[in-house]
Amino acid sequence: MKKKNEKEKISRNALCPCGSGKKYKRCCLNKESSAQSSDLRYEKRPRIQIKTTDQIDGIRRAGRLVIETLDLVEPHIQPGITTDAINTLVYDFTIKNGATPAPLNYKGFPKSVCVSINEVICHGIPSERTFKDGDIVNVDVTSILDGYYADASKTLFVGTPGADAKKIVDVSRQCLARGIKVVKPGNTVGDIGFAIQSYAEGKGCSVVRQFVGHGVGIDFHEPPQIPHYGTPGSGVRLVPGMIFTIEPMINLGTRELVILKDGWTAVTKDKSLSAQFEQTLLVTENGVESLTPYPL
Ligand code: MF3
Ligand code: CO
Ligand code: CO
Repeated sequence: MKKKNEKEKISRNALCPCGSGKKYKRCCLNKESSAQSSDLRYEKRPRIQIKTTDQIDGIRRAGRLVIETLDLVEPHIQPGITTDAINTLVYDFTIKNGATPAPLNYKGFPKSVCVSINEVICHGIPSERTFKDGDIVNVDVTSILDGYYADASKTLFVGTPGADAKKIVDVSRQCLARGIKVVKPGNTVGDIGFAIQSYAEGKGCSVVRQFVGHGVGIDFHEPPQIPHYGTPGSGVRLVPGMIFTIEPMINLGTRELVILKDGWTAVTKDKSLSAQFEQTLLVTENGVESLTPYPL
Protein backbone atom coordinates (compact mmCIF):
# COMPACT_ATOMS: atom_id res chain seq x y z
CA MET A 1 0.00 0.00 0.00
CA LYS A 2 1.24 3.46 -0.91
CA LYS A 3 0.93 5.12 2.47
CA LYS A 4 2.75 2.24 4.17
CA ASN A 5 5.58 2.43 1.68
CA GLU A 6 6.02 6.11 2.37
CA LYS A 7 6.40 5.47 6.08
CA GLU A 8 8.77 2.58 5.43
CA LYS A 9 11.21 4.98 3.74
CA ILE A 10 12.44 6.01 7.19
CA SER A 11 14.15 3.10 8.95
CA ARG A 12 12.87 2.41 12.47
CA ASN A 13 16.40 2.60 13.81
CA ALA A 14 17.41 5.73 11.88
CA LEU A 15 17.68 9.08 13.63
CA CYS A 16 14.26 10.70 13.79
CA PRO A 17 13.87 13.36 11.08
CA CYS A 18 12.32 15.76 13.59
CA GLY A 19 15.80 16.46 14.92
CA SER A 20 15.20 15.14 18.43
CA GLY A 21 18.38 13.04 18.31
CA LYS A 22 16.34 9.92 19.17
CA LYS A 23 15.67 6.89 17.04
CA TYR A 24 12.66 7.22 14.73
CA LYS A 25 10.90 4.28 16.47
CA ARG A 26 11.28 5.98 19.86
CA CYS A 27 10.01 9.30 18.56
CA CYS A 28 7.77 10.41 15.68
CA LEU A 29 6.96 6.92 14.37
CA ASN A 30 4.73 6.47 17.42
CA LYS A 31 3.40 9.97 17.01
CA GLU A 32 2.33 9.23 13.44
CA SER A 33 0.50 6.06 14.37
CA SER A 34 -1.41 7.85 17.14
CA ALA A 35 -2.11 11.29 15.75
CA GLN A 36 -4.60 11.96 18.57
CA SER A 37 -1.97 11.36 21.22
CA SER A 38 -1.36 14.28 23.54
CA ASP A 39 2.11 13.12 24.51
CA LEU A 40 3.64 16.24 25.99
CA ARG A 41 7.21 15.07 25.51
CA TYR A 42 7.01 16.41 21.97
CA GLU A 43 6.11 19.92 23.12
CA LYS A 44 9.15 20.05 25.38
CA ARG A 45 11.67 19.29 22.67
CA PRO A 46 13.60 22.29 21.43
CA ARG A 47 13.60 20.97 17.85
CA ILE A 48 10.96 20.45 15.17
CA GLN A 49 7.55 20.11 16.76
CA ILE A 50 5.21 17.60 15.21
CA LYS A 51 1.85 19.26 15.87
CA THR A 52 -1.06 17.54 17.64
CA THR A 53 -4.53 17.56 16.13
CA ASP A 54 -5.59 20.29 18.61
CA GLN A 55 -2.63 22.44 17.64
CA ILE A 56 -3.36 21.88 13.94
CA ASP A 57 -6.97 23.00 14.48
CA GLY A 58 -5.77 26.14 16.26
CA ILE A 59 -3.25 27.00 13.55
CA ARG A 60 -5.90 26.37 10.87
CA ARG A 61 -8.20 28.88 12.63
CA ALA A 62 -5.37 31.44 12.76
CA GLY A 63 -4.78 30.74 9.06
CA ARG A 64 -8.40 31.49 8.20
CA LEU A 65 -8.07 34.85 9.90
CA VAL A 66 -4.85 35.60 7.99
CA ILE A 67 -6.62 34.90 4.69
CA GLU A 68 -9.63 37.01 5.67
CA THR A 69 -7.17 39.81 6.48
CA LEU A 70 -5.45 39.54 3.08
CA ASP A 71 -8.87 39.54 1.40
CA LEU A 72 -9.84 42.67 3.33
CA VAL A 73 -6.66 44.49 2.32
CA GLU A 74 -6.60 43.53 -1.37
CA PRO A 75 -9.12 46.08 -2.71
CA HIS A 76 -7.21 48.88 -0.92
CA ILE A 77 -4.02 48.33 -2.92
CA GLN A 78 -4.74 51.39 -5.09
CA PRO A 79 -2.77 54.45 -6.25
CA GLY A 80 -2.57 57.14 -3.55
CA ILE A 81 -3.20 54.82 -0.58
CA THR A 82 -0.42 54.85 2.05
CA THR A 83 1.23 51.72 3.39
CA ASP A 84 0.26 53.02 6.85
CA ALA A 85 -3.41 52.82 5.82
CA ILE A 86 -2.85 49.10 5.14
CA ASN A 87 -1.23 48.78 8.57
CA THR A 88 -4.29 50.35 10.22
CA LEU A 89 -6.66 48.02 8.34
CA VAL A 90 -4.66 44.97 9.44
CA TYR A 91 -4.31 46.11 13.05
CA ASP A 92 -8.00 46.99 13.49
CA PHE A 93 -9.30 43.83 11.80
CA THR A 94 -6.94 41.57 13.75
CA ILE A 95 -7.88 43.09 17.11
CA LYS A 96 -11.60 43.04 16.24
CA ASN A 97 -11.25 39.29 15.72
CA GLY A 98 -9.67 38.72 19.11
CA ALA A 99 -6.20 38.14 17.68
CA THR A 100 -2.81 39.88 17.79
CA PRO A 101 -0.68 40.98 14.82
CA ALA A 102 2.54 38.98 15.29
CA PRO A 103 4.90 41.53 13.66
CA LEU A 104 3.99 44.33 16.13
CA ASN A 105 7.01 44.75 18.44
CA TYR A 106 8.51 41.47 17.17
CA LYS A 107 12.25 41.99 17.73
CA GLY A 108 11.49 45.72 17.60
CA PHE A 109 9.45 45.73 14.35
CA PRO A 110 7.25 48.83 14.80
CA LYS A 111 4.12 47.92 12.78
CA SER A 112 1.48 45.18 12.40
CA VAL A 113 2.17 44.04 8.84
CA CYS A 114 5.01 44.03 6.31
CA VAL A 115 4.29 45.97 3.11
CA SER A 116 7.06 45.62 0.54
CA ILE A 117 6.99 47.64 -2.70
CA ASN A 118 8.90 46.90 -5.95
CA GLU A 119 12.63 46.39 -5.11
CA VAL A 120 11.81 45.77 -1.45
CA ILE A 121 12.28 42.04 -0.95
CA CYS A 122 10.60 41.79 2.48
CA HIS A 123 10.07 43.48 5.87
CA GLY A 124 8.90 46.79 4.41
CA ILE A 125 7.75 49.02 7.29
CA PRO A 126 4.41 50.80 6.77
CA SER A 127 4.86 54.57 6.41
CA GLU A 128 3.45 57.62 4.64
CA ARG A 129 4.66 56.22 1.30
CA THR A 130 1.83 55.95 -1.23
CA PHE A 131 1.23 53.30 -3.88
CA LYS A 132 1.80 54.34 -7.50
CA ASP A 133 0.26 52.90 -10.65
CA GLY A 134 2.41 49.98 -11.83
CA ASP A 135 3.89 49.14 -8.40
CA ILE A 136 3.99 45.57 -7.12
CA VAL A 137 3.21 45.24 -3.41
CA ASN A 138 3.74 42.29 -1.11
CA VAL A 139 1.48 42.25 1.95
CA ASP A 140 2.67 39.77 4.60
CA VAL A 141 0.25 39.01 7.43
CA THR A 142 0.93 36.91 10.52
CA SER A 143 -1.79 36.58 13.18
CA ILE A 144 -1.73 35.06 16.65
CA LEU A 145 -5.14 33.61 17.52
CA ASP A 146 -5.58 31.76 20.84
CA GLY A 147 -1.80 31.47 20.98
CA TYR A 148 -1.46 29.93 17.50
CA TYR A 149 0.44 31.57 14.61
CA ALA A 150 -0.23 31.47 10.87
CA ASP A 151 1.74 33.37 8.23
CA ALA A 152 0.90 34.19 4.61
CA SER A 153 1.59 36.80 1.96
CA LYS A 154 0.71 37.78 -1.60
CA THR A 155 2.17 40.18 -4.14
CA LEU A 156 -0.48 42.41 -5.71
CA PHE A 157 -0.49 44.90 -8.59
CA VAL A 158 -1.30 48.58 -8.17
CA GLY A 159 -3.32 49.57 -11.24
CA THR A 160 -1.84 48.27 -14.50
CA PRO A 161 1.40 46.23 -14.31
CA GLY A 162 4.25 46.51 -16.82
CA ALA A 163 5.89 43.48 -18.43
CA ASP A 164 8.62 43.15 -15.78
CA ALA A 165 6.09 43.34 -12.95
CA LYS A 166 3.92 40.68 -14.57
CA LYS A 167 6.88 38.41 -15.08
CA ILE A 168 8.32 38.52 -11.57
CA VAL A 169 4.93 38.14 -9.90
CA ASP A 170 4.07 35.22 -12.18
CA VAL A 171 7.37 33.45 -11.57
CA SER A 172 7.21 33.88 -7.77
CA ARG A 173 3.61 32.62 -7.67
CA GLN A 174 4.61 29.56 -9.69
CA CYS A 175 7.57 29.03 -7.36
CA LEU A 176 5.27 28.72 -4.35
CA ALA A 177 2.94 26.41 -6.30
CA ARG A 178 5.83 24.16 -7.33
CA GLY A 179 7.24 24.10 -3.81
CA ILE A 180 3.87 23.09 -2.37
CA LYS A 181 3.50 20.33 -4.96
CA VAL A 182 6.47 18.36 -3.60
CA VAL A 183 5.39 18.56 0.06
CA LYS A 184 4.58 15.02 1.18
CA PRO A 185 5.94 12.48 3.68
CA GLY A 186 9.19 10.96 2.51
CA ASN A 187 10.27 14.01 0.49
CA THR A 188 12.81 16.40 1.99
CA VAL A 189 13.34 20.10 2.52
CA GLY A 190 15.92 19.95 -0.29
CA ASP A 191 13.24 18.71 -2.69
CA ILE A 192 11.23 21.87 -1.99
CA GLY A 193 14.25 24.12 -2.53
CA PHE A 194 15.20 22.36 -5.73
CA ALA A 195 11.68 22.60 -7.19
CA ILE A 196 11.69 26.36 -6.57
CA GLN A 197 15.27 27.18 -7.55
CA SER A 198 15.25 25.18 -10.78
CA TYR A 199 12.03 26.86 -11.94
CA ALA A 200 13.07 30.41 -10.97
CA GLU A 201 16.55 30.19 -12.46
CA GLY A 202 15.13 28.50 -15.56
CA LYS A 203 13.10 31.67 -16.06
CA GLY A 204 16.23 33.83 -15.67
CA CYS A 205 15.29 35.01 -12.16
CA SER A 206 17.22 34.61 -8.89
CA VAL A 207 16.33 33.17 -5.48
CA VAL A 208 17.04 35.16 -2.31
CA ARG A 209 19.14 33.10 0.13
CA GLN A 210 19.28 35.25 3.24
CA PHE A 211 15.60 34.68 4.05
CA VAL A 212 13.97 31.24 4.19
CA GLY A 213 10.66 29.59 5.04
CA HIS A 214 10.29 28.34 8.59
CA GLY A 215 8.39 26.15 11.00
CA VAL A 216 5.44 28.07 12.42
CA GLY A 217 2.40 27.61 14.66
CA ILE A 218 3.42 27.62 18.31
CA ASP A 219 5.91 30.40 17.67
CA PHE A 220 6.50 32.86 14.82
CA HIS A 221 9.71 31.23 13.60
CA GLU A 222 10.46 27.62 14.53
CA PRO A 223 12.73 24.97 13.06
CA PRO A 224 13.12 23.72 10.41
CA GLN A 225 14.37 26.37 8.03
CA ILE A 226 13.04 25.95 4.48
CA PRO A 227 15.54 27.35 1.95
CA HIS A 228 14.07 28.15 -1.45
CA TYR A 229 17.11 26.60 -3.15
CA GLY A 230 18.69 23.19 -2.72
CA THR A 231 19.45 19.67 -3.84
CA PRO A 232 16.92 16.85 -4.26
CA GLY A 233 16.87 14.41 -1.34
CA SER A 234 18.95 16.60 0.98
CA GLY A 235 17.97 18.01 4.37
CA VAL A 236 15.22 17.22 6.85
CA ARG A 237 12.73 14.54 5.79
CA LEU A 238 9.07 15.60 5.90
CA VAL A 239 6.72 13.76 8.24
CA PRO A 240 2.98 14.18 8.88
CA GLY A 241 2.21 16.89 11.43
CA MET A 242 5.05 19.22 10.45
CA ILE A 243 3.89 22.78 9.79
CA PHE A 244 6.07 25.30 7.99
CA THR A 245 5.92 28.15 5.53
CA ILE A 246 7.18 28.23 1.97
CA GLU A 247 7.78 31.85 0.98
CA PRO A 248 10.13 32.21 -1.99
CA MET A 249 11.49 35.71 -2.57
CA ILE A 250 12.35 35.90 -6.28
CA ASN A 251 14.31 38.71 -7.93
CA LEU A 252 14.36 39.83 -11.55
CA GLY A 253 18.10 40.61 -11.27
CA THR A 254 20.75 39.66 -8.73
CA ARG A 255 19.87 37.69 -5.60
CA GLU A 256 22.09 39.98 -3.51
CA LEU A 257 20.39 42.31 -1.07
CA VAL A 258 20.99 45.30 1.17
CA ILE A 259 19.30 46.03 4.52
CA LEU A 260 18.37 49.71 4.87
CA LYS A 261 19.38 51.83 7.89
CA ASP A 262 16.04 51.15 9.58
CA GLY A 263 17.46 47.68 10.27
CA TRP A 264 14.53 45.89 8.59
CA THR A 265 13.83 46.83 4.97
CA ALA A 266 15.57 44.36 2.63
CA VAL A 267 16.04 45.68 -0.93
CA THR A 268 17.63 44.14 -4.01
CA LYS A 269 21.22 45.33 -4.43
CA ASP A 270 20.60 46.19 -8.09
CA LYS A 271 17.15 47.73 -7.37
CA SER A 272 15.49 45.11 -9.58
CA LEU A 273 11.93 44.01 -8.81
CA SER A 274 11.34 41.30 -6.19
CA ALA A 275 8.13 39.37 -5.53
CA GLN A 276 6.96 36.81 -2.97
CA PHE A 277 4.07 34.51 -2.14
CA GLU A 278 3.81 32.66 1.19
CA GLN A 279 1.52 30.06 2.71
CA THR A 280 1.53 28.03 5.94
CA LEU A 281 1.55 24.31 5.10
CA LEU A 282 0.74 21.14 7.01
CA VAL A 283 2.35 17.86 5.97
CA THR A 284 -0.48 15.28 5.94
CA GLU A 285 -0.41 11.47 5.63
CA ASN A 286 -0.90 11.76 1.87
CA GLY A 287 0.64 15.10 0.97
CA VAL A 288 -0.09 18.63 2.04
CA GLU A 289 -2.85 20.91 3.29
CA SER A 290 -2.48 24.68 3.15
CA LEU A 291 -3.62 26.26 6.42
CA THR A 292 -3.65 29.65 4.66
CA PRO A 293 -5.15 28.59 1.33
CA TYR A 294 -5.68 30.85 -1.66
CA PRO A 295 -5.56 30.03 -5.37
CA LEU A 296 -2.15 30.25 -7.03
N1 MF3 B 1 6.11 37.44 8.10
C1 MF3 B 1 7.54 37.38 7.92
C2 MF3 B 1 7.84 35.95 7.54
O1 MF3 B 1 7.28 35.49 6.61
C3 MF3 B 1 8.30 37.81 9.11
C4 MF3 B 1 8.12 39.23 9.45
S1 MF3 B 1 9.04 39.62 10.82
C5 MF3 B 1 8.60 41.22 11.08
O2 MF3 B 1 8.55 35.22 8.17
F1 MF3 B 1 9.06 41.54 12.22
F2 MF3 B 1 9.08 41.95 10.10
F3 MF3 B 1 7.29 41.31 11.05
CO1 CO C 1 7.06 33.47 7.12
CO1 CO D 1 5.26 36.09 6.43
